[in-house]
Amino acid sequence: MPALGETLVRPAPRVRGRIRVPGDKSISHRYAMLASLATGRSTIQGYAPGADCASTLGCLRGLGVEVTVTPGDRPGSATVSIDGHGLRGLQAPAAPLDARNSGTTMRLMSGMLSAHPFTSVLVGDASLSRRPMRRVIEPLAQMGARIIADQDRAPLTISGGSLTAIDYTPPVPSAQVKSAILLAGIQTDGTTTVRESAPTRDHTELALRAFGASIDTSGDGRISVTGGAPLRPFEVTVPGDLSSATFWAVAAAGLPGSEIEVEDLGLNRSRVGLFDVLRRAGADVQVSTERVVEGEFRGSVRVRHNELRPLVLTPAEVPGVIDELPALAALATFGGELHVTGAAELRVKESDRISALAAGFRSLGSEIEEFPDGFHIVGRTRLRGGTADAAGDHRLAMAFAIAALGAERPSTITGADAVGVSYPGFFETLDSVTRDSR
Ligand code: S3P
Repeated sequence: MPALGETLVRPAPRVRGRIRVPGDKSISHRYAMLASLATGRSTIQGYAPGADCASTLGCLRGLGVEVTVTPGDRPGSATVSIDGHGLRGLQAPAAPLDARNSGTTMRLMSGMLSAHPFTSVLVGDASLSRRPMRRVIEPLAQMGARIIADQDRAPLTISGGSLTAIDYTPPVPSAQVKSAILLAGIQTDGTTTVRESAPTRDHTELALRAFGASIDTSGDGRISVTGGAPLRPFEVTVPGDLSSATFWAVAAAGLPGSEIEVEDLGLNRSRVGLFDVLRRAGADVQVSTERVVEGEFRGSVRVRHNELRPLVLTPAEVPGVIDELPALAALATFGGELHVTGAAELRVKESDRISALAAGFRSLGSEIEEFPDGFHIVGRTRLRGGTADAAGDHRLAMAFAIAALGAERPSTITGADAVGVSYPGFFETLDSVTRDSR
């Protein structure tokens, strides 16, 4: 019997099925935060069920926002109703706001809070308290917020108020930093501009446009918001999370005889670069875009096994697939090869996603070389199987579990309960897609 938090994953010859994945995590955070700043009640269906998005709701409640969560129309899905307080309408919290493991909660919330005339404290778990916050402190301080941090790490004590618009180029491409500035900018007089050196996910821009903010994205990498336009409340459904779907896409691409279809999936243009990457690695991928809802493309994807080819990712491609790199590493273990550079950002994710990834794959029997800004992994022979430690990181837990499907013998993933951060039903879906092949 595996110990608490350990999960045994048995090899499976193939994966098959038509599935849905939980609601998109990035979009859920943004809709919840924007709903709290809208005037009136918003309803969000298909809200992401993981702990990260629950942290955002917990912080909003701490700021006086009424949040109601009811079961959704599918198992594991939830509908969230939020009574918005209007721009700059949040209330001073009585206690620290806990973002737990969620970087998106902490960084985006910093932007929202900077525009409010009170002091609040944002705290996180041990992993989040190690992650760099200078990247949001710097621009928000330029706008006029006072943010106290210990060596640029959480806890963050934020004294906000009336801000000044800025024109800012983040030194590292980051959707979280961009969004923090835009969320402050919509509550600031004048026009706030963010200039991106490489495109990052644009869910904030799409949501701001859909819900009434004054936003201009016509410049090359330039995003401007003019503050003060009230946000209207909305009724939306969050599409499935492409980053969660990637694990099944990779399993289908890597295991002969596999075919997986993921329905009702978010196909945002800033995130679908993954599918070209999978095709380059040899996978047979068919994407069908079915509709656009509040600016977000949605549809389905079908992935079938095909012979794998070596894959090299360039630094310019990395921001577009940063969350997918652990899954792509798992793909390489099925007989492919992956070379990644320009991905030093991986070292400051939920874990040091280069060294923890290398350690985990090595324990499963993989050949992997670590660089300061990337890694090289070769699937020359079948994995032996073994015990891999997720290092408290949800995406590593899932990547190791997928790789373990292709191993010679069962593997144990320690700290596998980390999947609850983004994908609480991950192991149930793993059972369902491998059931007919064991
Ligand atoms: C996210 C942005 C990315 C990503 C993270 C979610 C977001 O982080 O890795 O999982 O929702 O904005 P960075 O902004 O640090 O690149």
